[in-house]
Amino acid sequence: MCGIVGYVGKRDCAGVLISALSKLEYRGYDSAGIAVFENGIVKTEKSKGRLADLSAKMKKEGTPQGTVGIGHTRWATHGEPSDTNSHPHRGGDHVTVVHNGIIENYKEIKSELIAQGRSFVSETDTEVVAQLLDSNYKGDPLAAIAKTLSQVRGSFALGILFHDIPDTVYAVRRESPLIVGVGEGESFIASDVPAILKYTRQYYLLEHDEIAVLDQNGVKFFTLDAQPVSKELLTADWDMDAAEKQGYEHFMLKEIHEQPEAIKKTVIPRIENGLPSLSECGITHENIKDFRNIYIVACGTAMHAGMVGKYVIEKIARVPVIVDIASEFRYRDPLIGKGDLIIIISQSGETADSLAAMRLAKERGAKTLAVVNAKGSSIAREADMLIYTHAGPEIAVASTKAYMVQIAVMYLFAFELALAKGQIDEAECRRLTSLLLEMPERIDTILARKDELKAISQTLLDAESLLYIGRGLDSALSMEGSLKLKEISYIHSESYAAGELKHGTISLIHEGMPVIAVDTQKALHEKTVSNIKECKARGAKTIVVCGDSYQPESDVADFCFRLPETDDLLMPMPAVVPLQLIAYYTAVLRGNDVDKPRNLAKSVTVE
Ligand code: AGP
Repeated sequence: MCGIVGYVGKRDCAGVLISALSKLEYRGYDSAGIAVFENGIVKTEKSKGRLADLSAKMKKEGTPQGTVGIGHTRWATHGEPSDTNSHPHRGGDHVTVVHNGIIENYKEIKSELIAQGRSFVSETDTEVVAQLLDSNYKGDPLAAIAKTLSQVRGSFALGILFHDIPDTVYAVRRESPLIVGVGEGESFIASDVPAILKYTRQYYLLEHDEIAVLDQNGVKFFTLDAQPVSKELLTADWDMDAAEKQGYEHFMLKEIHEQPEAIKKTVIPRIENGLPSLSECGITHENIKDFRNIYIVACGTAMHAGMVGKYVIEKIARVPVIVDIASEFRYRDPLIGKGDLIIIISQSGETADSLAAMRLAKERGAKTLAVVNAKGSSIAREADMLIYTHAGPEIAVASTKAYMVQIAVMYLFAFELALAKGQIDEAECRRLTSLLLEMPERIDTILARKDELKAISQTLLDAESLLYIGRGLDSALSMEGSLKLKEISYIHSESYAAGELKHGTISLIHEGMPVIAVDTQKALHEKTVSNIKECKARGAKTIVVCGDSYQPESDVADFCFRLPETDDLLMPMPAVVPLQLIAYYTAVLRGNDVDKPRNLAKSVTVE
């Protein structure tokens, strides 16, 4: 996620901005910049890289001198990490802006502004909103902000300097968080509390479509129709570590709750007129419709996302998909070659085995598509085609929101491929795409029921081993549920295709052994229930995650978590959330270091 800061007061503004931005580094970023009023002129310094790189650049080229300005750390969404794409962005002669979030209709607005004769230097949606603000500015900043917000769609927070109103910072938000800090004779804007804790613990929460005006006389708040707003002054009682978790006990829990927003940021910019549009990723119907085989190669959770991709791509695009663990793929002299596609899925974009697998596939003549979260990472840089996920930085070692947006990308790609191959028509593609867009809201309803899952976790604490079972997409999901539990609770578990149990593994079932059954695929429901009954009849304690049209009888489920139903194809997205939360609460209840589990690293950059 990007980070916004702003300062009005008597201190050296550049120093305050850099210090405040350093407290937002946990959000992850790939470039940074500041804009400061220096003798009434807005001076902007920005660069790709870390804050240290920006500071070094300013030390060499001169640091803007002043006591009022704005700053930004960028987590690239539109446009690669680069000096030009870094914030702050200038709009015409009157405006400089920093932005966190997504302007969904930036392409349409950009076209209109270009038609009006405006030119752009960056690929960002932020520059579009800066230019729009400038075009709306006729001397009244509140009116210009209100007009602009009536024209843009999306979730965003903006810090704004109007060049002819020196020593004043304006801020406005819609969904993306923004706070306004107040100290002795000074005030701040920031994306998050940690940025201001060094200077003050007192702050206001800016509400949706509210404007803040910070000047040397203090802070005022207005509605979009310029009505003054009085607000409650809050006091941050968090320490720095808690503040970075925004009040959640662990980064993992925070990231599980960020999944709806992550899906929006990943999916919405890739949909045009109700259909997937991956052209910005180098993907067109023409260049994907003729692949002979598709290989999906990754590690761990990313490979599990590939398993979901396999089922979805084969089901609707009717192209053979081979999913492989990267460390196996690269040493089994794979049959991949010209005419094949390899999809490498990786949150970090630096996993050694996955990078090596991609290079091997490229040597064999295959086309490469990377699905990566970390901007500018090795895998991202070397792929022929690239779909960034926009989950923001994933701090917890156990991957949750990255997995969620990886499967969201699998759906987008599968829908695009199926349409390109004529396996589905536009109407069906629109239907599936609209179901995908419903996911954030569905997941929010499940997150609201997290206490039910905490109660289920209580029953697992003393288990020596568990089974996760399912069929079809539920089998792919049970793989991810099992890994989540193992890696943070340290309880052994195994995922097993439900139909395969009777061929040996069912001998493991003993009295009280927990079996978590994922039963969301209506087409396979009867078979899955039979398998659950087989386990229960042998003494298993059964926990069933199923659709809400099914109420398991007592001889099927000891515990049950029922999900709002959608098309079978899309059920993995809501269904994985209870599995993530069961793993999380089990680990918490066992007193484990949830965010940094023993023996694990966030990115495995060695073989
Ligand atoms: C999953 O919770 C783990 N963090 C691990 O399996 C991870 O998914 C795997 O190491 C792949 O990492 P990558 O996505 O960064 O390539």
